[in-house]
Amino acid sequence: MAVGACVSARSTKKVYPGKTTPFVLITCLIAASSGLIFGYDVGISGGVTSMESFLSKFFPSVYRKMIVADKNANPYCKFDSQLLTAFTSSLYLAALITSLSASNFTRTLGRKNSMLIGGIIFLLGSLLNGAAQNVAMLIIGRILLGVGVAFACQAAPLYLSEMAPVHLRGMLNMGFQLMITFGIFCANLINYATSKFTNNWNWRISLGLAAVPAMIITLGSIFLPDSPNSLMARGHHDKARTMLQKIRGIPNVDEEFDDLVAASDELKMVQHAWSNVIKRKYRPQLVMAVLLPALQQLTGINVIMFYAPVLFKTIGFGSNGSLISAVIIGLVNMFSTLVSIFTVDKIGRRSLYLEGGPQMFICQIIAGTLIAINFGSSEEANMSKLYAWFLLAFVCIYVAGFAWSWGPLTILVASEIFPLEIRTAAQSIFISVNMFFTFIVAQAFLQMLCHFKFGLFYFFGGWVMISTVFVYLFLPETKNIPIEKMALVWKDHWFWSKIVADDHVHKEQDDVDEMESKKRLDSTI
Ligand code: BGC
Repeated sequence: MAVGACVSARSTKKVYPGKTTPFVLITCLIAASSGLIFGYDVGISGGVTSMESFLSKFFPSVYRKMIVADKNANPYCKFDSQLLTAFTSSLYLAALITSLSASNFTRTLGRKNSMLIGGIIFLLGSLLNGAAQNVAMLIIGRILLGVGVAFACQAAPLYLSEMAPVHLRGMLNMGFQLMITFGIFCANLINYATSKFTNNWNWRISLGLAAVPAMIITLGSIFLPDSPNSLMARGHHDKARTMLQKIRGIPNVDEEFDDLVAASDELKMVQHAWSNVIKRKYRPQLVMAVLLPALQQLTGINVIMFYAPVLFKTIGFGSNGSLISAVIIGLVNMFSTLVSIFTVDKIGRRSLYLEGGPQMFICQIIAGTLIAINFGSSEEANMSKLYAWFLLAFVCIYVAGFAWSWGPLTILVASEIFPLEIRTAAQSIFISVNMFFTFIVAQAFLQMLCHFKFGLFYFFGGWVMISTVFVYLFLPETKNIPIEKMALVWKDHWFWSKIVADDHVHKEQDDVDEMESKKRLDSTI
């Protein structure tokens, strides 16, 4: 999921004294595992909705269409069922609604408690799904999973940024996306393993095993300490200092602690984030908060992540082949994310975006054409093994392109560009838009497959091209720019400089300077 981190307004270039303690790495690892529960959901539903035992129990009409060899039926439409899509997409609708209010809990109850709540609700959802007797139980279970995901994903990136030492913050931020991809991969693997069972146990195990990442995050967050920022924001100054000493592994944390006090005071003064965000001077950030997550979903990535097994089955792969393909795709997704983690601070965000986009576009056009040639629009598929592998290879290259560009970068860029004054509001918009478009893609996919047929690949390919042009024209490079200087990148930009008038930017910079001098004054007093 595309969520960002609330990063402190202190300089990204600043290195506070301290060690990278094993304690902080372990806590970050546990918190990042929130990405696991999100990824598990993304990966599990496609495999389950292609299992015959699951379809025959809950969606008999889809099952009949799939089984009965009706020569006149359009094969692209054999999985088309509003109820079946509701199973997949209900989770994202629940997460969308929850994420609008979860930020309040995260602020008042703390990040640790939000992750705990998320883990428990998610656990209940997975148990309900694993034990489901009817469609209602399935959908209620999915809704609980969505609520859990929203809580955990709202709090975890925040927590990671607050606990991480400054020099590891970017990497740990992307660690969250890495956990999402690991969750997707585990789910693909489990679907493949359970598909060997012939009775109802296959889908029950696949859905019920979501309890494992849920337990990790639930138990983990019981033992997680609260972040110093969260303790501070809730008035526990002494505990915040003690925690800072513990995670930095040194007794003298004065410098970072003072910045923390200042940041927390500044945050208290920011009361109107929602009205600020619509001001003209924040237009670039608002546009990015809406368009980046929307365009990320319009790359069509979740068509592959949710429905790869269904898609491959539709175009003639056997059940086994469909699930193996999903496992391979999951692996490619996970390892390609590492490419971004290790290169983003060297080659920058724009180069990765501008390389990843065209790579995805070309692969989508080739994949669509390969399906069109072999399958046409209504004939039965007759794909040779070699041809099928060829097709899979292009889908994998497409996924790799996403995994080192639009996947992790969208989360990272959002965590860098929102100034303190609008951060909470912009963050909520970013998460909600992401969930909204995930919901739309999940809900519309099977119908689109039915109507657009192989053209589905061209449709999303078109969006990838538009998105790449958008990045090329409108997204400035943010590599190595301290967060408090970020306002200046819009001023230097050919287009945004016309929207963000000079005085706005100067005023912005003046505000930063004013805050800095106020802080210095406070510390002298
Ligand atoms: C997106 C998810 C997607 C995942 C794939 C995330 O950044 O937000 O929607 O399923 O990447 O790895």
